[in-house]
Amino acid sequence: MPRKIIALLGSPRMGGNTGKLLEQAIKGAEDAGCEVEKIPVFHLQFKPCMEIFYCMEHEDCKIKDDMTGMYQKFRDMDSLIVAAPVMTMGIPGKLKMFMDRFQVFYMAKYFRNESFIPLERRKERRMLFISISGMALPDVFEGAKITAKAFGEIIDCPYWDEVLQNDMDTIRDITTKPDVMEAAYRKGYELGRRLVSAEKSS
Ligand SMILES: Cc1cc2nc3c(=O)[nH]c(=O)nc-3n(C[C@H](O)[C@H](O)[C@H](O)COP(=O)(O)O)c2cc1C
Repeated sequence: MPRKIIALLGSPRMGGNTGKLLEQAIKGAEDAGCEVEKIPVFHLQFKPCMEIFYCMEHEDCKIKDDMTGMYQKFRDMDSLIVAAPVMTMGIPGKLKMFMDRFQVFYMAKYFRNESFIPLERRKERRMLFISISGMALPDVFEGAKITAKAFGEIIDCPYWDEVLQNDMDTIRDITTKPDVMEAAYRKGYELGRRLVSAEKSS
């Protein structure tokens, strides 16, 4: 069975600059021998978390929508790539809504003390974070990174590495930065490689 990686696209633009970097990372992970499922979050139809707290006592969410199938996918995956442009100094709202709906995982892990992810699998699950921003402010990625890191802890897929590029208002087209494109490919490859080599050595 190939190792599975989920690739979340947090930009509304499928072929935008975030999307191009994500494609590089996906290719890297596939070349390393993993199966990658890309999920464009903006194409999903789902509600925000309504704080019903059904998930305090249940392993799923009371709201039935496109998030319903996500919980099992996120339990089964071996690693995750999150790609998002900075919006209002954080991640895009729809991606944040998506992450908020993982309160289902939060309650299992922190309230009932029974994480969905067994200890053995927690050791190998990792998140690669890819982000770009329009401006070149020194702290432009801080908000996005804090959220990505919190999400990684909640779903037991901790923040592992990153590819960040600021100043996209000047750069415009990420393909004019082959070093960044190459970094996305390489990190995707490394993310996949560590899963495949962990399996070989077990
Ligand atoms: C609604 C919105 C909010 C944004 N907010 C910020 C911001 O706070 N800081 C910043 O540096 N860039 C901001 N940007 C710029 C994007 O991060 C930048 O244009 C990025 O390259 C878009 O990625 P894409 O090609 O995947 O769409 C914003 C863009 C949009 C559309």
